[in-house]
Amino acid sequence: MLELTTISKTFFAGTVNERLALRDVSLRLAPAEFVTVIGSNGAGKSTLLNIVAGALTPDHGSVQIDGRDVTRLPDHRRARTIGRVFQDPMAGTAPSMTIEENLAIAYARGQRRGLHRGVTRSKRELFRTELASLELGLEHRLKTTVGLLSGGQRQALSLLMATFSEPKILLLDEHTAALDPRRAELVAGLTTAAVRRHRLTTLMVTHNMDQALRLGTRLIMMHEGRIVVDIEGERKRRATVADLLDAFERVKGAELDDRTLLQ
Ligand SMILES: Nc1ncnc2c1ncn2[C@@H]1O[C@H](COP(=O)(O)OP(=O)(O)OP(=O)(O)O)[C@@H](O)[C@H]1O
Ligand SMILES: [Mg+2]
Repeated sequence: MLELTTISKTFFAGTVNERLALRDVSLRLAPAEFVTVIGSNGAGKSTLLNIVAGALTPDHGSVQIDGRDVTRLPDHRRARTIGRVFQDPMAGTAPSMTIEENLAIAYARGQRRGLHRGVTRSKRELFRTELASLELGLEHRLKTTVGLLSGGQRQALSLLMATFSEPKILLLDEHTAALDPRRAELVAGLTTAAVRRHRLTTLMVTHNMDQALRLGTRLIMMHEGRIVVDIEGERKRRATVADLLDAFERVKGAELDDRTLLQ
């Protein structure tokens, strides 16, 4: 379970560059809940994910994972609980290393002791099986340098690596944005499968509203550092892109108070 309580974050406070990125954001995610996150540029989506990951510390508020307060725990101390995939296919993998070396590193991250980064025969078998589940033929290319893979192949690999350590939480920041529509669909499908299989509590940022509606169990829209739409279940299933655009227009025109506008 992930619980964010009244999180605020301002960058460059007290300077001309001051940016209020998050205003009193509270969000509670049940185990295995899969939330898609939409909102215009600068709405605070990445800041929110960075605070969950521990890459940023909030000015106010708290982050709890499974009842444990991790607000001030640095990212490397949360790494085992959290898997991340970024927009840039280059970001999640080591391009000069082979597929199996990358997987070995990701696998070692999940181990409690030591850094067993070597590739043993049994690990190689496991890697093959896992890669086969991506249905990209990568299981036959363990010795291929990751830098030679396409963006879609790399994102699929990044996703696999992010879930290798069996994290509790999966954070996806526009991880299909740099891919062509077919590859984006493929990676979206792999995402849904991984979330279900590992029962991951997931936050997935996307600018694709259609994707945000189709994937996941719940959808939130952010605007100027607040969560302004929060729908799940039947309401989410029935919602259309036109509804979201409409909500966005209303939010833009409204003077927001401190409460969530639409729920
Ligand atoms: N490291 C940082 N230093 C200074 N300002 C930042 C930093 N990160 C984010 N901001 C500011 O905080 C606000 C929210 O940014 P954030 O990156 O969270 O938006 P976003 O919703 O992810 O937008 P996008 O859709 O463009 O990725 C913006 O005004 C941004 O300029
Ligand atoms: Mg962002």
